[in-house]
Amino acid sequence: MKAAWGQWAIGAMLGAAVLWFASLHDFHGTRLATTGRVALAGVALAAWIVHAWRASRRAADTPMASPGADTILVVHASQTGFATELAERTADTLRAAGKMVDLLPIWGVDAARLKATTHALFVASTTGEGDAPDVATGFRRDLMASRPVLDGLTYAVLALGDRDYEDFCAFGHELDRWLRESGATSWFDLVEVDNGDEGALRHWQGQLARSAGASDTPDWSRPAYGRWTLSERALLNPGSVGRPCFHLALVPENAAALSWKAGDIVEIGPRKARGDETPLPHREYSIASIPEDGALHLVVRQTVSENGHLGIGSGWLTSLAAVGDTIDLRIRSNPGFHAPDDDRPMLLIGNGTGIAGLRALLKTRIACGHRRNWLVYGERHVDVDRLHMDDVERWHRAGDIERVDFAWSRQSSKIRYVQDILRAHADDIRRFVAEGASLYVCGSLTGMAPGVDAALRDILGDARVEDLMTTTHYRRDVY
Ligand SMILES: Cc1cc2nc3c(=O)[nH]c(=O)nc-3n(C[C@H](O)[C@H](O)[C@H](O)COP(=O)(O)O)c2cc1C
Repeated sequence: MKAAWGQWAIGAMLGAAVLWFASLHDFHGTRLATTGRVALAGVALAAWIVHAWRASRRAADTPMASPGADTILVVHASQTGFATELAERTADTLRAAGKMVDLLPIWGVDAARLKATTHALFVASTTGEGDAPDVATGFRRDLMASRPVLDGLTYAVLALGDRDYEDFCAFGHELDRWLRESGATSWFDLVEVDNGDEGALRHWQGQLARSAGASDTPDWSRPAYGRWTLSERALLNPGSVGRPCFHLALVPENAAALSWKAGDIVEIGPRKARGDETPLPHREYSIASIPEDGALHLVVRQTVSENGHLGIGSGWLTSLAAVGDTIDLRIRSNPGFHAPDDDRPMLLIGNGTGIAGLRALLKTRIACGHRRNWLVYGERHVDVDRLHMDDVERWHRAGDIERVDFAWSRQSSKIRYVQDILRAHADDIRRFVAEGASLYVCGSLTGMAPGVDAALRDILGDARVEDLMTTTHYRRDVY
């Protein structure tokens, strides 16, 4: 309507201008008679009225034009990379069908963007205990706490989760509810994905085909496992009061598979027993080495269930499989935990087997000559729970790590946990962050991760921590 009123106003001004112009000038050298002048102005005005009326009819028939209105927005909220991967596939599928697509992480989306969008697809995982991924912190705090009017938006949600958790797909559902309550229209029903279930992914693909015209795409399935050989296995913590922890090295049958970035994750296909082909659900581990090492390293703690059985994944890797056996393995990119490309300072915090992800990050930093690394690491006893601590001490001596602080929780010491170290050195943490540091946390979801988060909030303030999270300066791989 605004556009139509503008046209009418311009028309009126034009008519007046023609009248004024005609009153001043001769046409072909002769001054027009007053009646002629009025007639000319009247014809111009009438022509404009017809034009404006037709334009206003056209405007009423078509939706209001907005930037990128016919572009489909694909948004991902991922903690460990799977949602990002699926959003990329969604975008590729739509593009292959000739659609225009914008692919964005959730932290890059604001109310204005959603208001200017007619169609959006959200791929959202759930982490922690029913929590939103870290990258969604700002979106959830700022946008989802408000009710922007999104009545021009049609949307769908692909919610990733795992039924082993009580709050299955909680964040996907929360997002769906918020979009609906903000006036957005459902394009098609939310699709829940339990642990990467391929049937659910096919269902999402089917919905894309039906609703967005993106047909004829090959089925999405997780990539097939590659064949890797278990080449080394060594107990890292003999004499520990904790569960045994192993260093594993694996080499691929196909040398080209020796390719990943520090921060990436592997999915292992465990077996019930050697030679048994029954597929079991995959298990995930952080990669502890870089391709330049010539092998993929893992740090795996052997777990036992309440009934005394070894864990499916850790039992296979640390006990059932023998060195020399073939292991089914595939690598999953986890861009949310990749090292920064530049030489900004990096604070690496972790405990237990969390050293795996931190070790790969340190290796890649050192390989790039980036030495502003500060490691804060915790385990139980200084003499027996030394998971790859020889590497760490060597790097520290060489100046490749500028600072190391340990929290040996069962040693007689006032400082027990990594979060206590952070608090004890609050000024140094503030300084490091002020110098542009990125923070990486790897290890236990219970205890360590919330403890570290609370300490960082005390030291830096909630707003700063959330800002670091949204700008991906504070990244977590916790499990
Ligand atoms: C530490 C951790 C906590 C999780 N918590 C939940 C949860 O509370 N509810 C749920 O449905 N799924 C949960 N999951 C499963 C993830 O949502 C699922 O693995 C998803 O595919 C991960 O996607 P992402 O890689 O994009 O983060 C959790 C996974 C991890 C590793």
